Amino acid sequence: MLERARLLCTMLCLSLCSAPLVGCIGGEDSNESNESNGGPSYHEGISDILEARCVNCHSDGQVAPFSLDSYDEAKSYQGIIAQSVEQGSMPPWMPDNSCNQYQRDLSLSDAERDSLLAWVAAGAPEGTPTGEASPPTPEDDDLSFDLTLPMAEPYTPQARPDDYRCFVMDWSLDETRYVTAFKASPGHAEMVHHVISFIINPNAADEFRAMDEAEDGPGYTCFGSPVAGEASFGASNAWRWLGSWTPGGSAREMPAGTGIAVEPGSVMVMQVHYNTLDAEPEADITSFEVKLADAVDRPAVVMPLTNYRWVMGSTPMSIPAGSTDSTHTFTTDLSDTVLNYLGSPAGLSPGDSFQIHSIGIHMHLLGTTGRIWLDRSGGEEECLLDIPRWDFNWQGTYEFAEPITVHSGDLFNLRCQWDNSATNQIVVDGEQLPPQDVAWGDGTRDEMCLAIAYATAL
Ligand code: HEC
Repeated sequence: MLERARLLCTMLCLSLCSAPLVGCIGGEDSNESNESNGGPSYHEGISDILEARCVNCHSDGQVAPFSLDSYDEAKSYQGIIAQSVEQGSMPPWMPDNSCNQYQRDLSLSDAERDSLLAWVAAGAPEGTPTGEASPPTPEDDDLSFDLTLPMAEPYTPQARPDDYRCFVMDWSLDETRYVTAFKASPGHAEMVHHVISFIINPNAADEFRAMDEAEDGPGYTCFGSPVAGEASFGASNAWRWLGSWTPGGSAREMPAGTGIAVEPGSVMVMQVHYNTLDAEPEADITSFEVKLADAVDRPAVVMPLTNYRWVMGSTPMSIPAGSTDSTHTFTTDLSDTVLNYLGSPAGLSPGDSFQIHSIGIHMHLLGTTGRIWLDRSGGEEECLLDIPRWDFNWQGTYEFAEPITVHSGDLFNLRCQWDNSATNQIVVDGEQLPPQDVAWGDGTRDEMCLAIAYATAL
């Protein structure tokens, strides 16, 4: 059994036991704050911030371990609120915003952060209720969906605290349709830590059904991909990313006029990461929904970008046992060979310029940092995504505020960093495993270094 308790504990300890903090407020002027009487109180300012930025995860039945939707709760957690806000660990927003700008940014503005810290420094005053209703939490917009794919039968997580389970779902449509929006609905949000849906191409559908049948109970164990255990599809085009959800996430609409084609005969695999560190295992039915179009202006391709020599092992992505910071970097001219192999669903051929709308990084548990950037043919560097503190649980894709246009001759770079030292190993049955030499693979103790880019023609 795999246990990530230690990793989570480390995270909590970092937040709970590290240096005192409240000293360093002030400095930046928070001219947006609307308190005239010297500081925010819970009812004047703070509850609105908590409501807008925290409560969608920090309330009953949601993923976070405690609620923050009343004065008493906020007051009793004030110390760790200040610490996590100060360190930037909460809200969980992984990208460094000095790299690029993204839509649906969860991070606090400087003014919100300053208000929270000032409130804690002032002893968490309650203030007087203003009588005004707090602003509504951002909800899934009024998107409507055409198809819901639920798990066929309930599954109760078995491995504790982490159970990574893949469920195979039929795709019943008999014509090619385009997915233009995606939403996952966890059955029990308090124990679902992420959901990733993959499209399995028709030629591989039977192999994935066989993985399901080979294991007892609904679904099968999978980790870094939809592939079961030690099986490997290497660089084949058996599967593609469709969409993902992490706690606090809502429905995702693809950029206007774009969508991902799904052919008849495909199947879907939905990976659910159950974490039962703070929740009792319960029978769960998670589902995902898609909005469909018959045609789109610009069909998208979800490109897995990596060094295929790492995948095939001809130039292994070696991460030696004991190394504290192994780094591998992959550089390529995307519009050259990559479009040759991957571009056709989007109607792209080598040499074409194209747009990247969103991007994510995928590594496993040893990852520490990841960065994606372009070296423009003119010589300047453009940062696309910088994850300074990799956390497998909070992997996601980030949609650019403005799509990135890539031209022939621009070099795409992906860099991943790992810590494979003795103290950064998983704990199995209460014992921390010794480090081992690691390379590319689908298993929990293997690693990956992959960029996932949603791209279309211009
Ligand atoms: C996207 C969901 C989400 C949002 C939004 C969120 N949290 Fe959390 N929070 C969590 C989860 C989950 C944990 C448990 C630890 C973990 O898994 O990272 C947590 C843990 C914490 C902790 C415990 C210490 C720590 O850092 O782990 C504090 C304090 C905290 N959150 C405060 C906040 C505050 C304050 C906000 C808003 C400003 C906020 N959180 C927004 C999900 C969220």
